[in-house]
Amino acid sequence: MAVQGVAVEDIVYRDDLYPRIEVDHSLIEIYQQDIERLPAIMINQNNILIDGRHRWLAHKRAGANTIPADIIETESEAHLEILAYKYNSAHGKQLSTEEKRIFAVKRCDIISTAKIASILSVSERTVRYWTQAKRKDLEEHRNKLIISEYLRAWNTQEAIAEKFELTQKTVSNIIDNFRKNGNLAESTKNFNPYLYSIWSLKNGDDKSHFGAFPAAYMENLIYYHTEPLEIVYDPFAGSGTTVKVCKAWHRRYYCSDRVVKQGLEDDIKQWDIADGLPEDLPLPDFVFLDPPYWIQAGNKYSKDKECLGNMSLEDFYSTFELFLKELIGRKAKRISIVIAPTQYRNNMVYEDHIFRFAKLLDGKYKIEMRRILPYSTQQCTPQMVIRAKEKRVDLVIHRDLVVWRRV
Ligand SMILES: C[S@@+](CC[C@H](N)C(=O)[O-])C[C@H]1O[C@@H](n2cnc3c(N)ncnc32)[C@H](O)[C@@H]1O
Repeated sequence: MAVQGVAVEDIVYRDDLYPRIEVDHSLIEIYQQDIERLPAIMINQNNILIDGRHRWLAHKRAGANTIPADIIETESEAHLEILAYKYNSAHGKQLSTEEKRIFAVKRCDIISTAKIASILSVSERTVRYWTQAKRKDLEEHRNKLIISEYLRAWNTQEAIAEKFELTQKTVSNIIDNFRKNGNLAESTKNFNPYLYSIWSLKNGDDKSHFGAFPAAYMENLIYYHTEPLEIVYDPFAGSGTTVKVCKAWHRRYYCSDRVVKQGLEDDIKQWDIADGLPEDLPLPDFVFLDPPYWIQAGNKYSKDKECLGNMSLEDFYSTFELFLKELIGRKAKRISIVIAPTQYRNNMVYEDHIFRFAKLLDGKYKIEMRRILPYSTQQCTPQMVIRAKEKRVDLVIHRDLVVWRRV
């Protein structure tokens, strides 16, 4: 630190930084009588006042041109603030207890109790007492964030511990506590599940995203086939229906899609099922497969040929079935598929996908439940009706939703 004379008018006083709230005018008057004997004020390299507001005001009132100042190099705003509190807490006209308490509460999220105590020249016990309520709020908030991270099933406890700079034991205790005391069943307490196996929405499907699976159906699936904190894997996550329900109902989720919708990047990973199962996928308890319907969904999701919705039926089958076989090999506890049988546009040839997939699961999995999800007849255009009549076939207006359980 070097003491030098600095022009009084060049000193920068920053209200937001300087902790002292009240100016003591009688003290300024006393100082004014004897400005030559006052100790140097403290400023940083940009002349920002760190300590000595009353001495500086006394110089101003006395009409002095310069004031002796110690110049300290500060590295950041936080450093500047800490120094301001430190020096104003330790000597001269000290900060009031209330001023110190306000600083402790304001900063206890980023500065340790011990450091705050040393900055303010008070005991750690005092700091702990002042900051008790704020630290409790911060801890609750942090624990909520930890649980949100844990629900994203790709996060291991080690990774969460590292992110929050905690030990793995602390993270595991927070999760255990959530498991035991987090009221995990609360969200389903007033839930009215569908009583019958035909699932139909009164108000029709959600039209906000092409092919979105209605949240009400997802809630029923989760309700009937999973337990809190089990892992739900959805590799065709689309608009994030699964994410939404899993978050609300405290299921861990591993959601991915070939094209991740903007804004969902934190919850949905980018992954193409043609590359098999992702390496960081933990063993899923429940797999939900809502693939696009091969070429019928042409260009609706994307224009890329890798999109299942743009493939020929043969390519769709080979890509999807390879993936399904891998899942079966992985021994996922439950696998569900939602898909409608298709009728080729021109000659109305009927193709029942779910029966084909069932063959792959046979022997290793047993059907736990099968539901029918009807569409409205309005989705059939007049041309389709005319063609169906000509070909003497009835039109498909339902999806199959089948859940298998590993035997
Ligand atoms: C029927 S939508 C799923 C909708 C989702 N269940 C929802 O509620 O929003 C099918 C999804 O599969 C995705 N998709 C298509 N081809 C894919 C591929 N090869 N790998 C991964 N996802 C793919 C599409 O991007 C689309 O979001």
